[in-house]
Amino acid sequence: MEKDVDINKVVQQHLEMNNFFTGGFAAKGKADSTEPQQQQDNVAVAQAATELEKIADEVRQCRKCPLGSLRTNAVPGEGKPNAQILFVGEGPGADEDAQGRPFVGRAGRLLDRVIAACGLKRSDVFIANILKCRPPGNRDPRPDEIINCFPYLQRQIEVINPKIIVALGAPAARTLLNTNKSIGQLRGQFHEYYAGLGRPPIKLMPTYHTAYLLRNYSHQNRERVWEDMKKVLTELGLPIPEHVRK
Ligand code: URA
Repeated sequence: MEKDVDINKVVQQHLEMNNFFTGGFAAKGKADSTEPQQQQDNVAVAQAATELEKIADEVRQCRKCPLGSLRTNAVPGEGKPNAQILFVGEGPGADEDAQGRPFVGRAGRLLDRVIAACGLKRSDVFIANILKCRPPGNRDPRPDEIINCFPYLQRQIEVINPKIIVALGAPAARTLLNTNKSIGQLRGQFHEYYAGLGRPPIKLMPTYHTAYLLRNYSHQNRERVWEDMKKVLTELGLPIPEHVRK
């Protein structure tokens, strides 16, 4: 059963906590009228966090496909509720299944290095997958599994509303772009992800999956990923750290 979340209570607690840390003690229980934009932003972030937790709860209870009864833990995704960058992988592996968190194994440690090389922290971004449960033996996701699971990611994207989606590997890029093209054809340029009628498209950069990079750890492949990430940083107006500049 879905957990009952009182959004007003969560937002109120968030505002009080924010007032406490920013010194607005007198305004306890009320919105601080001196910083209305900041207050609105805080409310929006708290609401997004609550929505994402609701989706995560649904994912943890999901039995729409047989993967639901094979998993140790579902892996809904994690990160900043209003992240500018959303990384999307294929599906959990053994480490992720054991911990219920995305990208925590070898491929995850390499993703952490990619994020750090961009001058960012893991907590600055959101990380999710196309599939929320591990396919046995890490086999490729099946079409019926993707059809059942993709709506969770679509809802996460709507809530996070990132400026850029980085699709890691062919299954993520193909699903999000509804194409059969290879990752070699897709990577290196921005595409558009359509989040729904009336919503502006979100820029999407496909790049190699870090698991592929580990298996094919050539200078050329690493350079290609850096090229893709530099385009992402430039698009966001973020500085390109020295060691990534070429
Ligand atoms: N590979 C993925 O695609 N996702 C993970 O979470 C971990 C490895």
